[in-house]
Amino acid sequence: MCGIFGIASTKSTRNKLYQGLMKLEYRGYDSSGISGTHISSKLSTIKATGPIKNLRTKLTSLTNITTGIAHTRWATHGEAILKNAHPHLSENISIVHNGIIENYIELKSLLKKKGYLFKSDTDSEVISHLIHMNYEKTKNMESSIISTTKKLKGSYAIGCINTNYRNTIFAACKGSPLIIGKGINENFIASDIMPILSDTKNYITLDDDEFAKITPSKISIFNANKAISKKVKTSKINTEQASLSGHKHFMHKEIYEQKSILKEMTSRYVGTNKILSNIFGPGTDKILENIDHIHFVACGTSYHASLVAKDWIEEYTTITCTAEVASEYKYKKINVLPKTLFVSISQSGETADTISSLKKALKLKYSNTLAICNVAESTLTRLSKLVFLMNAGPEISVASTKAFTSQLFTLLLLTIVISRKFGNIESRMVKDIYKINEIIDSLYKLETDIKKISTKFKNKEHTIFLGKGTSYPIALEAALKLKEISYIHASAYHSGELKHGPLALVDKKMPVVCFLPDNHLARLVLSNLAEVEARQGQTFIFTNKKIPKKNKKVEIIKMPGCPDLIAPILYIIPAQLLSYHVALKKKTDVDKPRNLAKSVTVE
Ligand code: AGP
Repeated sequence: MCGIFGIASTKSTRNKLYQGLMKLEYRGYDSSGISGTHISSKLSTIKATGPIKNLRTKLTSLTNITTGIAHTRWATHGEAILKNAHPHLSENISIVHNGIIENYIELKSLLKKKGYLFKSDTDSEVISHLIHMNYEKTKNMESSIISTTKKLKGSYAIGCINTNYRNTIFAACKGSPLIIGKGINENFIASDIMPILSDTKNYITLDDDEFAKITPSKISIFNANKAISKKVKTSKINTEQASLSGHKHFMHKEIYEQKSILKEMTSRYVGTNKILSNIFGPGTDKILENIDHIHFVACGTSYHASLVAKDWIEEYTTITCTAEVASEYKYKKINVLPKTLFVSISQSGETADTISSLKKALKLKYSNTLAICNVAESTLTRLSKLVFLMNAGPEISVASTKAFTSQLFTLLLLTIVISRKFGNIESRMVKDIYKINEIIDSLYKLETDIKKISTKFKNKEHTIFLGKGTSYPIALEAALKLKEISYIHASAYHSGELKHGPLALVDKKMPVVCFLPDNHLARLVLSNLAEVEARQGQTFIFTNKKIPKKNKKVEIIKMPGCPDLIAPILYIIPAQLLSYHVALKKKTDVDKPRNLAKSVTVE
């Protein structure tokens, strides 16, 4: 999984390639590189490990490059070391690749037999040698791309330059996204729209099995060897750059942004005592009235949001829901009953597992497909029949925060809309929604206490998170946040499950974090906590319930009272702050945790 950017131009593109690549860093930051051709047709390539900024000092050697391709890597095959950084070269040919070549071992041995020497451990390097081998036979790049892609199994978005083709980029894709930007006297390739927006808003989406030849003045698209014409779309995305606005990290900024986002979503979609009509798109109130089942599919944080939605919907309607992680959904037999809605949830809209699940769903007998997404013009939104854009603004931090609460808010709106025919509860639920905006401020006031508590996690290697009902997905999400950015192992359990095994882990060193809104389940959760305290575990309880602090091994984080319906949206915020402060104490790279990428574009 990686990011690709390229510019076909007659002017110097060195800085633009670097700046554009920076906007794709969310796709991976294990290493990066740029290849470009000089006016003299000489090929120059630079590479660096770690974040893209490490390329900066090497940029001078690219002074005269005009047309170039750039890459930021998230390692799949081969360690995150310099020799595995893209671009990969085969004499006068240079390529960048996003995806996974599943048959690279057999291709590699075939190419080795033909005398090709491999410099990296990647799957991608076979592409450069294959193109080279085919080009040597035909001296024609178009046919070489066709014969090369025919041999590749797996997924790919490829950008390629050949010094024999002045100022030309060749691009092809299958299963990995690639767009072509149409500029003035220069054209672009990119994994998403972001790197090209400062130059153009006009773009073409390259679809599976298509390839393109791009020069500064012309974009030609082919399917096999047939030239095809494709619609040029215009992006509506605002080019405003995300900045830290005084916060030390994007994660902290995004945790704080939740307040204004939820307020904005309330004013956009919620009336005095009802949800506005057709907020999921024209005619959707009628469509949603006709649903008997829902299949939610998502990954990571977005999957946790779907677990809350399942509980909400099943609580207030007779609709049955399943929530499945996308990496499993794709490989399972799925029974689709009549009147089933498929709902995919994704911040980025570029998560490969979720995209391929939606592609599978589109072939099954769903009555409709709805994508809940934060990024307009993403692959998921292009494929889904119905789309709800959350408009939470760019989420830069790898650890998702504001996308999660926006997803929960959206799913709460969905719950209310589809529960209409099941009773007269809309106005009461709407009242609860308005309470989010009243209560949310008090959560940020907890930050000073949370900061103090975070010290107690700093030297821990393991933690346990507990919840019951809709607080269980919150425990899962809080545990994921802690793991991602502080590298402390965290497991989440239904509080009632503790006694069935995990309790064996509890001793006087084990921190146990519990989310305990004062509701009908609180009594049971308290019994589970008593079992932890009896084994001298350290408990950290987020609650609005009055509970006696029996000893100093019990920490109570006093939450504001709130209706049970909105508790998941509110309880996750202090948990996000907790993981943030633990990570600060551990001095990790909060916004770019090791081994991860913002958007996981490989399966
Ligand atoms: C969340 O903090 C993660 N970085 C990750 O689990 C993420 O939620 C997951 O990869 C799904 O991403 P998406 O919402 O963009 O599809």
